[in-house]
Amino acid sequence: MSTTIIDGVPPGPSLPMALQTLGMMTRQRPFLERARRRYGNMFSVNIHGLGKMVILADPALIKHTFTADAKTLHAGSQSPLRRILGNHSLLGIDEEYHLEQRKLLLPPFKGQRMKVYESMIEQIAVDEIERWPIGTPFATTQTFQRITLRAILQAVFGASGRHLHELEELLPPWTDQGQQLSRFPQIQKDLGPWSPWGRFLRLRAKVDRILDELIEDARRDPELTERSDVLALMVQARRVDGSPMTNAEIRDQLVTMLAAGHETTAHTLGWAVERLTRNPDVLARLSAEVDEGGKAYRDATIREVQRMRPVVSFAGRHTQKPFEVGGYRLPKGVLIGLSAGLTHYDPQLFEQPDRFDPGRFYDKLPETYSWIPFGGGIRRCIGATFAHMELDVVLRVMLERVALEPTDAPDESWRFKGVAWSPGAGGRVTVHARSARTRVPEVAAAA
Ligand code: HEM
Repeated sequence: MSTTIIDGVPPGPSLPMALQTLGMMTRQRPFLERARRRYGNMFSVNIHGLGKMVILADPALIKHTFTADAKTLHAGSQSPLRRILGNHSLLGIDEEYHLEQRKLLLPPFKGQRMKVYESMIEQIAVDEIERWPIGTPFATTQTFQRITLRAILQAVFGASGRHLHELEELLPPWTDQGQQLSRFPQIQKDLGPWSPWGRFLRLRAKVDRILDELIEDARRDPELTERSDVLALMVQARRVDGSPMTNAEIRDQLVTMLAAGHETTAHTLGWAVERLTRNPDVLARLSAEVDEGGKAYRDATIREVQRMRPVVSFAGRHTQKPFEVGGYRLPKGVLIGLSAGLTHYDPQLFEQPDRFDPGRFYDKLPETYSWIPFGGGIRRCIGATFAHMELDVVLRVMLERVALEPTDAPDESWRFKGVAWSPGAGGRVTVHARSARTRVPEVAAAA
């Protein structure tokens, strides 16, 4: 029996582009849910700056797309991030060059390496969380951003002392400017040091000078092979022909990991606070588990936070040639958005999807193509294991040291921050001190 394949894109909302763009930017989930109710798990939207975008929210179609040939679907070459992060950035390249760079970057992110980074991140989290105000409400995402920035600078960049402090000063404004500029290609022109793009390039040049120093220090370090930071492993990595990565490649991959891993992890932590303060039963069970030294329920909670609040709502792929999916032959030049936001709320895949229930992942790993906060296939987030470890350590340190006050305030809204969706009020919470019993030993162990 032959099935008919339709040439073109599937139908979708007929609202004017401006309204669809507004829907995607301000009320993305209700906008997409409405479209799904009408058109099913594959439909098209029309978005300013992106054009026609085909949304997929069905695990079989998602699998088919994530596992498609890298020459048919690109993720990097059309990305606006390529100009921001550099020509070698893993997020801006495709095909053979992408696979080569990805292979060179992978070793530090293997599971067994995570133990080394754990105590480093624990100490960073302790230093920050022990300064939280007691009894006064505050937004947590800023403090989580400080933790995740320092974690990447130490564990990935291998920075310390002067280099660490200079990068902590320079990188937040650089990423802020990059996020703004990525949305406006028309102003990406160097019209001198006062123009937005000129300022951005000059800031990047300062960052690059520091990164070159770090790379040269590592190349000269007699103890390089003993080091565990990602930069040290990149300096030692060799291509198939035996040549090392260039400074420009290492610099671009470092800033890429910062851009991809810093705010995503911080906002996921902010959402964890938002979810936990609205679900006191889960919070109580988590705190009890921490006191007993367990972690299975925390692992499940992290996965459930990422299901309900995926901070990156789409993984994107661009058709380089016609691509068949879901009964359509999409033409060349179409953007496909694999939607975590919709897939994670499909009642066929997750019973009562609006309920925050870590039990659904307790001692049970999520399905590869139904749970996609880290994307999938050969572009799946390279830092997923690192991110899970970091989320785990920071939540543990937090639960050991402070008690979160539950709230009956409405759920925080979703706010788009350029890279990631963050809780609208910044993961606001009031905390109280917990007994000192649990406070001391881990700090001493990490030190
Ligand atoms: C909760 C935290 C994080 C989330 C939700 C997240 C999510 C994602 C997503 C959705 C993608 C695109 C995958 C695709 O297109 O299929 C991605 C790619 C990537 N992520 Fe993450 N990420 C996180 C943390 C990190 C961290 C900590 C690092 C590094 C230290 C990192 C480095 C990268 C890199 C380099 C890529 C590009 C991979 C490629 O194109 O081959 N991410 N991430």
